[in-house]
Amino acid sequence: MRDFYPEDMLLRNTVFEAWRSAARQFGFSQYDSCVVESLELLKRKGGEEIADQLYAFKDKSDRDLALRAEMTPTLARMICARQGALSFPMKWFAIAQCFRYERMTQGRKREHYQWNLDVVGEPSVAAEAEILSAAARSMFILGLDQNDVVIHISSRALLSDLLAKLGVDPRFHPATFLVLDKRGKISDDEILKLLENAGIDATGIAAVKKLTGIADMKSALAVLESPTAAYTALSDLFEMLRIHGIADMVRFDLSVVRGLGYYTGIVFEAFDSKHEGRAIFGGGRYDGLLSDIGGKPMTAVGLGFGDVVISDYLAAKGKLPLQSSEKDIILGYMDDSQRATAMALARLLREQGRSVDMAMHSQKAKALFSKASQCGFREAIFIGPDDIIKGMARIKNMADRTERELAIPVGS
Ligand code: HAM
Repeated sequence: MRDFYPEDMLLRNTVFEAWRSAARQFGFSQYDSCVVESLELLKRKGGEEIADQLYAFKDKSDRDLALRAEMTPTLARMICARQGALSFPMKWFAIAQCFRYERMTQGRKREHYQWNLDVVGEPSVAAEAEILSAAARSMFILGLDQNDVVIHISSRALLSDLLAKLGVDPRFHPATFLVLDKRGKISDDEILKLLENAGIDATGIAAVKKLTGIADMKSALAVLESPTAAYTALSDLFEMLRIHGIADMVRFDLSVVRGLGYYTGIVFEAFDSKHEGRAIFGGGRYDGLLSDIGGKPMTAVGLGFGDVVISDYLAAKGKLPLQSSEKDIILGYMDDSQRATAMALARLLREQGRSVDMAMHSQKAKALFSKASQCGFREAIFIGPDDIIKGMARIKNMADRTERELAIPVGS
């Protein structure tokens, strides 16, 4: 688990603020919930891999609980509880702390914050387009551009169409997806073994080999012979993303399957342009989750965007925030006889909405001004005996070293 020192908070807040502003620009409303969830909901409705990584415990009433590993089952639970009262399509976002007992590697921690953007109740790929454009917008706000990130997009429905066309029985499709998701992470021999263990016959194995050769939409269409609904949806999405202005950032990539079991349609994952690090974000369409937990069937699409990988990437690109924009005024005084005046002045400025870091003991002017420049304060005020006599404090602008005067509050 991480500790966040003030400099870490600076980065975390910068990332959160980019997420919040992008969500706001795209009209998403924020929601939240408690990090503790029912174990059953997380285990049965979350992704298979995640179920093994839960921090689970019993409370004093012997209830089985767990820290959430992702937000999606909680979102589904919250929507089901008010499905009759909410209006759809619904666009919600959350910044949720999630816990997974994972092997700690580069980009993977046991605790992370995840920006979740979900659209519920909209069947058209305009929903995917909104979500992907909002995610891209957050990265632009953070100073990255279209050359820094690639969003790989595929469709489980299209994969199913292709597998069916290649003669693979639909009952083997889910197992094939999970094996395909391991591609690149384990050797091709191990992939073959996993396919065999899942009971997939020679036709299936040949089909998987053929699928790995499909690198663009045109080759997919050649296998399908004529466009299926899943094919058309995916090509509509690419067209919408072009209009959204992010065509250079997206790529058709059939190898994206996603480890989580609940995705049913389009799936996507973003990586740094060199494809060196872990996924920056991932998500897709999930049509069965709401009905699975007792709600009315409803289509949904969403993504999870973690703070760890993007922060590492911003650091690697030299784009970390260097200074807090909160550093406004620093205020000090020479000896205790000016303390009451300094306090009254701090109060006046704070009442005007300024942020004032007031010294809690007397000090030399030099010490105050060197702290002011080291820490990046916009303005500095140092009160000495002469200022009290004149009834005026001098406010120094740290950038251009100019000074202006401010009347000291009467009676202080
Ligand atoms: P996920 O792919 O498991 O999807 O996680 C989404 C993102 O969360 C990852 O791409 C990564 O940025 C971050 N992440 C996940 N695990 C860790 C970890 N251990 N350490 C650091 N970062 C991590 C989901 O969780 C889906 N529920 C997303 C979703 C929302 N699908 C639909 N709506």
